[in-house]
Amino acid sequence: MPKLTIKTDNKTIEVAENAAIIDVCENEETSILFGCRDGACGACMVRVVSNPQNLSPMEDHERDFLETMAALDDERLACQCKVLGDVELEVSE
Ligand code: FES
Repeated sequence: MPKLTIKTDNKTIEVAENAAIIDVCENEETSILFGCRDGACGACMVRVVSNPQNLSPMEDHERDFLETMAALDDERLACQCKVLGDVELEVSE
């Protein structure tokens, strides 16, 4: 099972392959905050510390929003990501 590590919380969670991060975070205490849950508010922005290829590919509306926010190349919206393999995140500042 893939491991989702949230460095901000010093926490590693084993998740089902293809699990949505937002669903995982409903059952686990993490520092990732969610607002709109739809890729439109930026509350859930995270930095991908390692293995960005193990998150589901970015779709256009996420890319457009991150561009609007002037996000860094390694930032994603957690509400839009599924876990495909081991990946490490931290909450964006
Ligand atoms: S919760 Fe609003 S963008 Fe992810």
